[in-house]
Amino acid sequence: MADYIAKPGLEGIVAGDTDICCVDQGQLLYRGYAIADLAEKVVFGEVAHLLLYGELPTPDQLKELRNMLDRFHGLPQPIIEAIRAIPHDAPMMDVLRTGVSMAGHFDPSKGDSPDDLRKRAVWLMAVTSDVVAARYCLLHDREPTPPKRGLSHAAQILYMCHGTEPDETSARLLDLTLVLYAEHEFNASTFTTRVIASTTSDMISAVTGAIGALKGPLHGGANERAMELLSRFKDAEEASAWVKEALAQKEKVMGFGHRVYKNGDHRAHILEREMRVLAKQKGKENLVAIYDAIKDPIVDKERPIYPNVDYPCGLTYFLLDLPLDLYTPLFVCSRVTGWCAHFMEQAQANRIYRPLSNYTGEPLRKTP
Ligand SMILES: CC(C)(COP(=O)(O)OP(=O)(O)OC[C@H]1O[C@@H](n2cnc3c(N)ncnc32)[C@H](O)[C@@H]1OP(=O)(O)O)[C@@H](O)C(=O)NCCC(=O)NCCS
Repeated sequence: MADYIAKPGLEGIVAGDTDICCVDQGQLLYRGYAIADLAEKVVFGEVAHLLLYGELPTPDQLKELRNMLDRFHGLPQPIIEAIRAIPHDAPMMDVLRTGVSMAGHFDPSKGDSPDDLRKRAVWLMAVTSDVVAARYCLLHDREPTPPKRGLSHAAQILYMCHGTEPDETSARLLDLTLVLYAEHEFNASTFTTRVIASTTSDMISAVTGAIGALKGPLHGGANERAMELLSRFKDAEEASAWVKEALAQKEKVMGFGHRVYKNGDHRAHILEREMRVLAKQKGKENLVAIYDAIKDPIVDKERPIYPNVDYPCGLTYFLLDLPLDLYTPLFVCSRVTGWCAHFMEQAQANRIYRPLSNYTGEPLRKTP
């Protein structure tokens, strides 16, 4: 038997080349643009274009992308009926996974040319937001709200959920989180996408698998868990006592830590700033005090562990009055663009992923 040395979690392994995103201690780039620059100057639709088409759009190209999304929004009735039939207590991420998989049977673009794939990616942007909003409406005893033409993607998601146009702050901050969540190199769900793409399977299967990977609390599910944690405490003192005990017990605190970033997550800094302003506007500084009471002892440790983007995102979504079970699905509505960009990149220069394993079972033996 070969004597291999396993790398659990593939830590430190470079699994492929990519032009899409660069994640390192010093910077996070989407196709060469720094995340802080994008967060300040562009909206999510432009980031989606950058990831899927390789360049930021001209005003006409952005308009065309929005028109395409407008055309693609609106689920076929059989999918709405299937979503209605799912038990009410099913997690929203499970409904989203099923909804995307089912919607695949109604994919309007049939081929696999680069143009078809890009079109399918834009269609998946529409489908993911449609499924989330439809489920949200049905759970609230309303029929799904038909989309309204001409809205930004963030505003459209909120409109289809609530049936009214969002205020400027809600649309802007949701848009910002979509920009920050859109892409992050070879993370677990993107790697899932690339593994599925590498078998020359299809984009719908890859995105369905990626949703399953993102659901886990060690990945995208952390934004919900981080907010659940914050809402456990009545004040900063209680939170502070809990976190000291949790650290002593070596408990993982959700929304902290990262496989790559060891000096902090660029996205968390950007969002935390905005979250603090929002909390002040809403008179919810008490929640920020709890947020800081948990964060400070973790960051001030001898070996600091920093918040990742999910920590401020959980509280931002809460301050925007979004229900907890939408947090990770909203992450999907953004990251689907990164997944599809990676699907296309993998397909262009493909080699099937097939790593080895180090066998630790019984040596050769005979049946009795
Ligand atoms: C993201 C994550 C899965 C990365 O895992 P990883 O690269 O395998 O890192 P490890 O779990 O080996 O952690 C390294 C050390 O930091 C500690 N650590 C990492 N994340 C921690 C957290 N969230 N809370 C407390 N301690 C943490 C570990 O206990 C470990 O300490 P040790 O060396 O004394 O044993 C991990 O940090 C985590 O579970 N975070 C919470 C979930 C989360 O927020 N996920 C979203 C990621 S964007």
